[in-house]
Amino acid sequence: MSLAPTPERPPTPSPAIPKADAKAASAAGGGAPQPFRHIVAVTSGKGGVGKTFVAANLAAALARTGKRVLVLDADLGLANLDVVLNLYPKITLHDVFTGRHTLADAILPAPGGFSVLLAGSGMVEYSRMTGEVREKLQALVAEVAPRFDQVLFDTGAGISDVVLYTVSLAGEVLVVATPEPTSLTDAYATIKVLANTQGRRRIHLLVNQVRRQGEGRGVRNQLQQVVDRYVNPALDVPVRLELLGEVPVDTAVREAVQRRQLLLEAMPGTAAALALVNAAVKMPA
Ligand SMILES: Nc1ncnc2c1ncn2[C@@H]1O[C@H](COP(=O)(O)OP(=O)(O)OP(=O)(O)O)[C@@H](O)[C@H]1O
Ligand SMILES: [Mg+2]
Repeated sequence: MSLAPTPERPPTPSPAIPKADAKAASAAGGGAPQPFRHIVAVTSGKGGVGKTFVAANLAAALARTGKRVLVLDADLGLANLDVVLNLYPKITLHDVFTGRHTLADAILPAPGGFSVLLAGSGMVEYSRMTGEVREKLQALVAEVAPRFDQVLFDTGAGISDVVLYTVSLAGEVLVVATPEPTSLTDAYATIKVLANTQGRRRIHLLVNQVRRQGEGRGVRNQLQQVVDRYVNPALDVPVRLELLGEVPVDTAVREAVQRRQLLLEAMPGTAAALALVNAAVKMPA
């Protein structure tokens, strides 16, 4: 499939934030303080492409190398990291936000040797990013980040202000996409908005559910071509997509998710698990 748009059809269903919305854009990212470099936001254009699976298993792979790793369930409204990890948190981000519990109480050990901060299901009221939630989340991130060597945010999909704000708190972004045309156009929309509203010039890409070796490189090149053509001409410094890796479509993934286990623990020798171990080596730190 070609991402190149026909003259009648724009390259993405969601155009870059227009100038009139600059205030909203800055609220979604521009106004935030300098983000920590060792925080990587795992995000995507389209939902269901494998962000939570990737974040949890990358964290396990990184933890094996001796790093202190934290995964923050930053998909505040629709959190499901707890489900994937089979955890039943008694204390969540909500309790920290309301002052009922300390941050230290809410940081839990996960099966893969890393730590998690879970949103739980009581976070529905945070599906809209108010000024108060922004401040609380920012303060929490500033407090927790120095305690870990690597922090991963498992964010929601798309370009809502909640997603863009959580991404803005991270020093690096990892976009997860599958080779499907719908995932590619949505990944492009995400990349374009991150470049235009957050000044991102280096964006990492993980291509999940590839069906043949090398497909990830092809997807990266295709996306880079569209970015070069439609985003980069207006920028002084061009956006560059860095391929972190490709993960094959693997029935073992579904099985591990069904069993609510980490793939790296349940089936470490599978193709998808090995691909994630390789990707972890290249993680920006
Ligand atoms: N490499 C893979 N091979 C096979 N199936 C996969 C692979 N990666 C993900 N999946 C399937 O896709 C499902 C969705 O994955 P996941 O929940 O991680 O997506 P997500 O991007 O976090 O979704 P959301 O946008 O809803 O948060 C998994 O439960 C799994 O069944
Ligand atoms: Mg998810």
